[in-house]
Amino acid sequence: MVAPASTEEILDVNRRYHDVAAVDYDSKWGVDFGAVGRAQVLGKVEKLLGRRPGPFARALEIGAGTGYFTLNLMQEGVIAAGVCSDVSPGMLGALRANAERLGLHVETVAGDAAALPFEDASFDLVLGHAVLHHLPQLERAFADFMRVLRPGGVLLFAGEPSRYGDRIAALPKRAGLAAAPLWRRAVGARAAEANGNGGPPDDHALESLVDVHAFAPGDLERHASAAGFADVRVRGEELLANMFGWFNRTVEASAVHEDIPFGWFRYAYRGYILLQRIDGALLEPHLPAARFYNLMLTARKPG
Ligand SMILES: C[S@@+](CC[C@H](N)C(=O)[O-])C[C@H]1O[C@@H](n2cnc3c(N)ncnc32)[C@H](O)[C@@H]1O
Repeated sequence: MVAPASTEEILDVNRRYHDVAAVDYDSKWGVDFGAVGRAQVLGKVEKLLGRRPGPFARALEIGAGTGYFTLNLMQEGVIAAGVCSDVSPGMLGALRANAERLGLHVETVAGDAAALPFEDASFDLVLGHAVLHHLPQLERAFADFMRVLRPGGVLLFAGEPSRYGDRIAALPKRAGLAAAPLWRRAVGARAAEANGNGGPPDDHALESLVDVHAFAPGDLERHASAAGFADVRVRGEELLANMFGWFNRTVEASAVHEDIPFGWFRYAYRGYILLQRIDGALLEPHLPAARFYNLMLTARKPG
């Protein structure tokens, strides 16, 4: 049996994995800072906070990566001043380059979400996207989110994998692996080099080490409530879009990236956006949160 990784090991592997991932993170995950990206991020925040949220004078993003949420929300006028923190200096380097290109000023701070180097009550909004599932010390992290928020401040997280979503993601991944040789022939791409074990490319192998949680809605509610938050709400989003996305990412990862035709990426991106709309219009109003691939959380600091 493999011993569970220690907190330090989890932080270290996250730092190393994301430092490497930073190089092509935006192109791999379709992170966009134009009209499409702004609409996507605003749409997610509006699902939780209602139409035209904010403006928040000072916001802290946890696990900000290359800036997907904060930079798009600043462009939309939802956040006035943004502070972006992340355990990976490489990600923050990419974020600063994106901010400069967009003409935005943000402060960046490298470090763990459970040890925030900020004064008490110094933010109006603490937010994050696809980060809680990487944190080894969730209890301490939520306590710190509470500490750095001003009374009445808002907590918002989106893009957290649900337990059910994590289980069903295995299906499109398996289908993608099975279809990969045929798909490569169809698009005319060479096979990517396998790692030493003949297994999938290395970053896929590391994924199981950096992803330390998948949540049931009640888990997120409990963490927020235990830290003292009020008005805690959890909802689910995206199901079909993620199934489609995981299949595509799996076949893409099996090929030499430069060989994949641009038309494929356009098809994959457009298909994903279309299915996101179908999820939002037809499934999200009717199915319980636990049935979706992603969970979203919002809460408020009392006072
Ligand atoms: C899946 S990426 C999401 C990045 C960005 N929020 C986005 O949506 O594009 C997860 C991010 O969390 C960061 N991260 C992982 N563990 C962390 C920790 N303990 N404290 C702060 N950030 C962490 C990673 O470095 C990475 O940038």
